[in-house]
Amino acid sequence: MKKYTIITYGCQMNVHESEKIAGALEERGYVENADETTSDVVVFNTCCIRETAEQKAMGNIGALKQIKKKNKNMVIIVSGCMSQQKGYDKLLKEKFPFIDIIVGTTNQSKIGELLDEYLLKHKKIAQIDNTEKPEIVEVKSIARTSYPHAWVNITYGCNNFCTYCIVPYVRGRERSRNYKDILNDINNLLDQGYKEITLLGQNVNSYGSDLDDGIDFAFLLGEIAKIDRKFRLRFMTSHPKDLNEKILDIMASCPNMSKCIHLPCQAGSSKVLAAMNRRYTKEHYLHLVEMIREKLPECAITTDIMVGFPTETEEDFLDTLDLVEKCRFSSAFTFIYSRRKGTIADKMEQIPYKIKQERISRLIKLQNQITAEISDTYLGKTVEILVDCINNKKSGVVCGRTDDNKLVNVKGDESLIGQFINVKITDAKMSALYGEIVE
Ligand code: 5AD
Ligand code: SF4
Repeated sequence: MKKYTIITYGCQMNVHESEKIAGALEERGYVENADETTSDVVVFNTCCIRETAEQKAMGNIGALKQIKKKNKNMVIIVSGCMSQQKGYDKLLKEKFPFIDIIVGTTNQSKIGELLDEYLLKHKKIAQIDNTEKPEIVEVKSIARTSYPHAWVNITYGCNNFCTYCIVPYVRGRERSRNYKDILNDINNLLDQGYKEITLLGQNVNSYGSDLDDGIDFAFLLGEIAKIDRKFRLRFMTSHPKDLNEKILDIMASCPNMSKCIHLPCQAGSSKVLAAMNRRYTKEHYLHLVEMIREKLPECAITTDIMVGFPTETEEDFLDTLDLVEKCRFSSAFTFIYSRRKGTIADKMEQIPYKIKQERISRLIKLQNQITAEISDTYLGKTVEILVDCINNKKSGVVCGRTDDNKLVNVKGDESLIGQFINVKITDAKMSALYGEIVE
């Protein structure tokens, strides 16, 4: 039996991309293997959003050198955002001459065919497609790994060019999938028993802006809302500049729409937001939060926040803390700004690392306190969760998520996976809730 391992870095877009790569390998008779050192094919699906993501991938690729020396037939493939960066095919070849196939982001769907070619000719392949707006490839064989949850791409690429971000350079211009293909995917997944669908895109709520038929994200949600079956619909990521009343109204009117919005604010200072090219102000962001609270009172808002962007002063940072206090996010991903070559912010005057570290600790402290306070509000409440896995650390315990995406632990076994159950919350920790099943 031929074996494969895929090592994935970065966001959910990459996790889903890896499911497509797995589909291509399984079509060719390979089976999944957790231990990459004993695999016939090892794929590194990489990320480059921050320097740490790159360092991690580089370290793990380097670690395979000795294994490959002993097992010369092992095929090593490096794909994704890191390899798509300008000059990286050359850099990877020089640094790791034992890599067999290098592909970027937009030609990952060709990995199966490139592997066939490599096995036939035994000639190394480096193929990076630099087309600005490559064709969307509709991948049919996807080896999904996250039942009862499934991802569905709605857009690829990004047109926003936030000044700190490498994504528009490595994922090309925004391309929207045809809404009929998306609806088809969702219906097929529901037929197969999936219970939660997440629409994926770098900026989901600008869906359709590249199409010329007037179709937009609100239209797409409206069509999905017509599906008369019980499931949960999530989407990520939303950009504050493209979130509007129409979208919120559809979310409010449809019980299948998860009451949770991931809305990255990045910073609280309007001056910094302008330098980031985010195209909204602190006031506009607060207005959006107010609108969400009014139309969807039960809705959780989560966010991404960055500290230490070039030019960020202490006063700017205090604006971020103020925004965090006012918005009361259910949770936040917090990041230290990381320089990315080729972006506008890389050429701006940088902030000392010590200041960045000090700011992120203050930010995390504040957000943790808010997250804990919000978690406490669930005590005694009965919530519906979708059970999605067994708790690997505690035997006889399963995990699930509420509609607003809170993690809940409850006694139970594997048979509950994929079921919606009601749980009374008996204990609340910052990152997870604990409860008992109620009939
Ligand atoms: N440095 C730090 N964080 C970044 N992000 C994007 N680019 C960078 C960077 N250069 C963060 C943003 C984004 C999330 C996916 O990653 O907060 O929303
Ligand atoms: Fe990067 Fe901004 Fe596009 Fe998000 S919207 S991927 S942060 S450029």
